[in-house]
Amino acid sequence: MVQVFFAGGDARWAVYEAPLRRALDAVLPEYVLGPDLDPALAEYVIYAPGAGCDDFTQFPRAKAVLGLWAGVEKIAPNPTLTQPLARMVDHGLTQGMVEYCLGHALRHHLGMDRYIHGLKGDWKQAPPPLASSRKVAVLGLGALGHAVAEALVQVGFDVHGWARRPREVAGISAHHGPEGLRAALGGAEIVILLLPQTAGTENTLNAETLALLAPGAAVINPGRGPLIDDEALLAALERGQVGHATLDVFRIEPLPPEHPFWHHPNVTVTPHIAAETRPETSAQVIAENIRRGEASEPLLHLVDRQAGY
Ligand code: NDP
Ligand code: OXD
Repeated sequence: MVQVFFAGGDARWAVYEAPLRRALDAVLPEYVLGPDLDPALAEYVIYAPGAGCDDFTQFPRAKAVLGLWAGVEKIAPNPTLTQPLARMVDHGLTQGMVEYCLGHALRHHLGMDRYIHGLKGDWKQAPPPLASSRKVAVLGLGALGHAVAEALVQVGFDVHGWARRPREVAGISAHHGPEGLRAALGGAEIVILLLPQTAGTENTLNAETLALLAPGAAVINPGRGPLIDDEALLAALERGQVGHATLDVFRIEPLPPEHPFWHHPNVTVTPHIAAETRPETSAQVIAENIRRGEASEPLLHLVDRQAGY
């Protein structure tokens, strides 16, 4: 009887229990699942940060920890974690991120704010250029960045991507490494950050790299707050080097009420809602990994804890 411990918190258990049971029923003949099992017997741990279950020494028999989040910066450095860690790559989450990034990129591309705020009698015609003449930089070409880059290519944008290692994505100019960052950002009118939070990605957008963008560029950050030097961004907004920033993630969440981002006229704050793990689709990913674990097959989406993602 496979023992599957749910360490995602009460609120998530309420929405995940049924989808997990449906998905596990399809792959395992016998299992027990729940948040109240004996941790000492758990063979798989379904984990989400913030649920108060961060001491992994209580799971001595666990064969794997299966995260419900795509980002692993809260768990990857945990010294009590000795088990393999798989993160979430979920079709529903990816689709949500594609929709968020496309929507916010098109907002800036089409200059929608001018019409939404109202022309107030000013019949000034300023049609937007076609997407093909708009350079968009997508920083991070993993599960999410890759899908977002492909969607932007479909619309016709001139897409430049950036990753740590050389990558190939049909229809985009892919760059890597520090020099590649300059090539990706140089003259970009829209930049989308889909990097993980690691020691190597902190302050990727800083005073120097923000200066590479086309004047008035839009910054869209659904990645993680520390990817941007906040002071440098505020200064770039002040100078008009950045025309608008759409920020979904922050160094401190919830974003403190006194933070200048809340009231800046050229900042749009969304409260970490860009993309959510979807219970139905992610339960299938979890179940597939447990099936693999039981069949001694390699697990999907394993985290490289050295690299931090
Ligand atoms: P992946 O691990 O699949 O992709 C990460 C990408 O970043 C890879 O292309 C990787 O390069 C690149 N990268 C990592 N380090 C560096 C570096 N030092 N320099 C250049 N490139 C680097 O992650 P996902 O696409 O699944 O997710 C990305 C992030 O999105 C998550 O870590 C999370 O922070 C955030 N997220 C936010 C959500 C929200 O609602 N706001 C929801 C879900 C995720 P390489 O390809 O060479 O490995
Ligand atoms: C995630 C997130 O990492 O929601 O899954 O940010």
